[in-house]
Amino acid sequence: MSVNMTQKHNQRLIRGRVLSFIREPQDISDTASYIYHEDGALLVENGLIIAVGDYATVAAQKSPDTPETDHRPHLILPGFIDTHIHFPQSQVVASYAAELLDWLNDYTFIEEQKYADEQFGEHIAERFIDELLRHGTTTVVAYGSVHPQSVDAFFRASERLNMRNIAGKVMMDRNAPAALCDTAQSGYDDTKALIARWNGKGRLDYAITPRFAITSTPAQLEASQALVREHPECYVQTHLSENHAEIEFTCSLYPDAPDYTGIYEHYGLLGDKTLLGHSIHLSEREMKVLADSRSVAVFCPTSNLFLGSGLFDRDRLRDAGVRIGVATDIGGGTSWSMLRTLDEGYKVLQLRGQRLNPLSSFYMMTLGNAQALSMEDRIGTLGAGTEADFVVLNSRATSAMRLRMDAGSNLAQELFLLQTLGDDRAIVETYVAGQPVKPAN
Ligand code: GUN
Ligand code: ZN
Repeated sequence: MSVNMTQKHNQRLIRGRVLSFIREPQDISDTASYIYHEDGALLVENGLIIAVGDYATVAAQKSPDTPETDHRPHLILPGFIDTHIHFPQSQVVASYAAELLDWLNDYTFIEEQKYADEQFGEHIAERFIDELLRHGTTTVVAYGSVHPQSVDAFFRASERLNMRNIAGKVMMDRNAPAALCDTAQSGYDDTKALIARWNGKGRLDYAITPRFAITSTPAQLEASQALVREHPECYVQTHLSENHAEIEFTCSLYPDAPDYTGIYEHYGLLGDKTLLGHSIHLSEREMKVLADSRSVAVFCPTSNLFLGSGLFDRDRLRDAGVRIGVATDIGGGTSWSMLRTLDEGYKVLQLRGQRLNPLSSFYMMTLGNAQALSMEDRIGTLGAGTEADFVVLNSRATSAMRLRMDAGSNLAQELFLLQTLGDDRAIVETYVAGQPVKPAN
């Protein structure tokens, strides 16, 4: 039992260099977009941040017996949020394939069959969550396999640590091995039962998850539409316009749709709780539909590079008014780290002739992704009253980082260094609901 369970208020004081965004940075010199305390502190009580600010001010508010953890000179930021990740692909990462559809058929659709075995799912769920925490990620929006027991395993593992997570079982009833197919009816029934079991339980929420239009018949997308109508409180997640072969196949399956986005539009699957992984190759019409419906386009840079899918066009999406999230997409993605993910995101945008400044990167993996989930009142910042999920970062974690840091840096340069050279070695500690939970190695 941790020491603070004996404290009257279950309080903990955490000291360090506190950084939290309050809005999207306009540029690299936008110091008004964040709060920063060089000698700062958080006062945590019963899983919530109850005070944040300069150490002296915050320390004055604690109970006399409150334990204190001093993380100086490290940075304390809100825990990272990953808005698109596949839990049953934990062991698919680094599979050699030409492109998306080969990769799905040759590896992913083989691997996901293992999750029929609930015990196997339990085992991987624990390791999946360990890996997230090791990389400083405190909230994910996860795809399960087609098997509802995979989602039970994931939610049980999340619940044990009181993590704020979102997940759903994929619905897929065609163009996949028989062992991985549900039906429109069973996908609906299993999803209903999972929503009843998990949605809103503790810090867990459900995402209705038709995998993508290729693996769902029109009947299944109709069933998904019914689920969305019956459960407006749930999220929706799927894949959209990832690569050209996928788009062509999709449009051949839905010849009456004006375009790929038009399929999800027709079945009522777009909205402000809808997350669309990839969203790379979109027409003006499609971007307008996403903007008007307030759907979220999720940028998955390491995956898009690894599978050769294409370069996310952030500026066109942003100019069109589309909300944007960012994610690892393990296991099409190649790193669990949001630092590595934003580093690759930076390079993708370089190739597009677009700029990603380090303030924006750290905004995106914290508050930006919380806003993509409409959860900014609970996670993504270190504001008083929000949930105490945060990460402690060491900008001198490796010799290469120390060498670079020795040349001197301001805060924006330090963040850029963390993004460019950092990975799990830079994560000193990860706190979930106020408790330090980073696995030992
Ligand atoms: N499209 C449909 N399923 C998947 C998946 O598992 N990964 C990726 N990257 N794209 C998909
Ligand atoms: Zn995906």
